[in-house]
Parts: sequence; C-alpha cells; structure tokens
Amino acid sequence: MKNPWIIANWKMNGTADQVRAAAEDWQSIPTKASLIFCPPVCFAHLVDVHASHFHLGGQTCHEAASGAYTGHTSAAMLQELGCGYVLVGHSEQRPCNVRGALIQARSHGLTPIWCVGHRSTIPPKFDYIEECEHLTRTIELERPPFSDGYMLAYEPLSAIGTGNPMDPDVVKVIVDHLRRLCPVPVLYGGSVNTSNVDEFLSVSDGVLIGGMSLDVLAMSALLAKCG
Ligand code: PGA
Repeated sequence: MKNPWIIANWKMNGTADQVRAAAEDWQSIPTKASLIFCPPVCFAHLVDVHASHFHLGGQTCHEAASGAYTGHTSAAMLQELGCGYVLVGHSEQRPCNVRGALIQARSHGLTPIWCVGHRSTIPPKFDYIEECEHLTRTIELERPPFSDGYMLAYEPLSAIGTGNPMDPDVVKVIVDHLRRLCPVPVLYGGSVNTSNVDEFLSVSDGVLIGGMSLDVLAMSALLAKCG
C-alpha cells in the first residue's frame, strides 16, 4: 500500500534518553510512511519534530477543556507540547466520554485517532457480522460533529498486547465496513509484529503498533521498507 500511517504507541514505557534516540533515528529515515510517535506525555517535549513524515501524538486527552481532573491531560496541553495527533478511546484507558474527547482534540487543532473494536478479551467464536453491528452502534453513538479530520483505528481488545492478532482477512472486511461508515483513514492495531505487519498494511490505511514499536531497529526497518 502507498503512504501508510504508522503509529508507535509507547504506552507507559521508555526513558527520556530512549525517547530522544528513537525520535532521532526515525526522523532520519527516508520513507513514504507517515509516522506518529506517541511517547509517554512527560517526554513529549523532548521530541523535536523536524522531518515531514514524522509527527508527535498524545496517548489520550480529556473530554473537558480544563478542571479538577487529577492525572489527566487536556488537548490544549498536548497542542502546547507540539502534538498534532492524539489517541482517543484506547481500551487501556479508563472509559471516557469519547465524543467529548474527539471534540476537544479537534478544537485544539489535533487530529484524533479514534480507537474502536470489541471489548471482549477472548471472543469465543468471532462473528464479524456481530462485530460490524457493534461498530455501527458505537459510531452512531459517539460520532463527532465533523466528518473528516480524524482517523479510525480498529483495535479489538482480544488482540491488544496478547500476541493474538486478528485474522487479516477479517480485518479487511471490518476495515471496509468502517470506511463505508466514516470516509477517513482506517488503521488496524493489535499484536502487529515484524512478520504480520505487511499483511495488515495491505488491508488497511496503516497500523497502530504497541509492543513492537519499542524495538527501534524493527521500526526503522519498517519505515525504510515503506520508502
Ligand atoms: P500491541 O498494542 O501492538 O502491543 O498489541 C496495540 C495497541 O495498544 O494499540
């Protein structure tokens, strides 16, 4: 696929030095991919964005503009740190008002990456028709009052951090369904690794990578391959 989106979500991992080093490496690689690096928010200011393919993202933002919300980060704060993107509704976050967070993100010039997908840890017998219906309901309920300027990431909980990715053929059906519902880039995330990433890139507009993104060399190789 051409010009994929690649999101490196470091979650609560890494040191200041590791964040700086990864950013420097990835910015120096010629690639047609667009990389969004989401380091822990406390290190975001260490990343100096200077390559056109490289962007800084937050891992979440609150649905309120400001207030008494201990431990949270607002969209305005992320913008001030230099972020252009933010994950919204990731399953590792406490449930938030997704629609409110999407609106906050957009009103501060951030492109939200809206994470959707089933919330069952082990789908006993995966039924993609049921999953498509679930996604339609979720999107109807939480859809923001704008029709572009955001991305969707299909992030089924059973695949996140488990080493059990979804079947790429099923992901293709679901990505196509999501594209019909929302004509925006649709990504896949959940146990993406060096051996399956090509398959997921061939059926989507990009990938949201957790664990594997901590392997700086593997990510560099992926970016170079998209050159
Ligand atoms: P994983 O995480 O790649 O480690 O499964 C993906 C995610 O959290 O989106």
